[in-house]
Amino acid sequence: MKIWEDKTQYYIRAVMGRNSERENEELKKNLDKIDWSVLGRITEKDAMSRRGSFAPLAAVELDEIRARGAEFKEIGLKAIREGRVGAVLLAGGQGTRLGLEKPKGTLNIGIDRELYLFEQLVRNLMDVTDEAGVPVPLYVMTSNINHGDTTTFFEEHAYFGYPKEYIKFFVQEMAPACDYEGRAYLASPTQAAMSPNGNGGWFGSMVKAGLLDDLREKGIEWLNVFAVDNCLQRIADPVFIGATIAYGCESGAKVVRKAAPDEKIGVLCTEDGKPSIVEYYEMTEEMETARKEDGALAYGFGVILNYLFSEKKLEQIVGRNMQIHVVEKKIPYIDADRKPVKPEQPNGYKFEALVLDMVHMMDDCLPYEVDRAKEFAPIKNLHGTDSLDSARELMKGCGIEL
Ligand code: UTP
Repeated sequence: MKIWEDKTQYYIRAVMGRNSERENEELKKNLDKIDWSVLGRITEKDAMSRRGSFAPLAAVELDEIRARGAEFKEIGLKAIREGRVGAVLLAGGQGTRLGLEKPKGTLNIGIDRELYLFEQLVRNLMDVTDEAGVPVPLYVMTSNINHGDTTTFFEEHAYFGYPKEYIKFFVQEMAPACDYEGRAYLASPTQAAMSPNGNGGWFGSMVKAGLLDDLREKGIEWLNVFAVDNCLQRIADPVFIGATIAYGCESGAKVVRKAAPDEKIGVLCTEDGKPSIVEYYEMTEEMETARKEDGALAYGFGVILNYLFSEKKLEQIVGRNMQIHVVEKKIPYIDADRKPVKPEQPNGYKFEALVLDMVHMMDDCLPYEVDRAKEFAPIKNLHGTDSLDSARELMKGCGIEL
């Protein structure tokens, strides 16, 4: 059955009742291009029931990193200098919590001067490339909603001093959004309401964009994938890369020591013997408070969306089905009278695959501790926790002039 024939599809049917014939033809054509199967995933909202058995996973902690830092760094710098490392900036999200109309990376985080989030991230990467003496290929994932604005912004700012030929943009896929009953929203009389399909499809989108040839030609063996909103993170960090290689792992994750047992952060552990991330809302109280012999939390390290993956392994897993997360969000839509509605509160679901689920597809993953005061300043909101305000304070603490 075509989606517009489905009697439960209230918005589509109501809008079609008011559209002209031509509009309806166009709408049908557009609806036909969409994979609607995700709407059936609403029933999978309670993911915990399908989880396996969790166990703690030991991290490489700061003490060890300090002691073996020079050794790790040398290995990492060698890989970078030999052109075996690439970086992937995930910038396809909508940043709805921040409420900026433009791409999140265009946010000015400066106070007395202009300093854009994208600019700060490029600078962080350049700390490494300056030391290594070679550029690291940077791949930037955008989505239909922000691609033009993102590429224009980079161009207008002369790529923030990074060699242009080493930056490649690619666009991720979109998925339909619906209300709490599973009824698809429309964004206009001829278009469904679509949103980026999460950050988990990044490698598949790179492949679709034809970038696999580029990776192979360049001989890239490691990809460091990171979020747009952590302005303090180190990118293509040679010590992290070197540690992952030295431990013989096929992936690594930067982690921070949890600030409190109930901190809202995904924890890296094992699930049925394989690396996995357990979300804070999936943790039982027993897991939250379990302690090791030395008194430290057993599930004590949270992920910060900065991962290193073996490129070969990514090629092996790229076609596999990923879990779909059903996420409550604010979804702008047109109502039955075709009037645009911009909700103040979440009004439905988006469907997202998440990069953290890739970790469970790896045979191993090295949890690599970083000092949160130096490397973890995510900007999710304007004020409060994980905000522009808190990130500015942390940046000042690191001696960055704003
Ligand atoms: P978030 O989970 O913070 O989502 O993304 P978001 O869309 O940026 O913000 P909110 O939740 O609407 O406020 C974490 C990282 O993943 C990227 C984001 O750009 C950010 O770097 N991301 C997210 C994508 O690249 N694509 C997506 O579909 C979603």
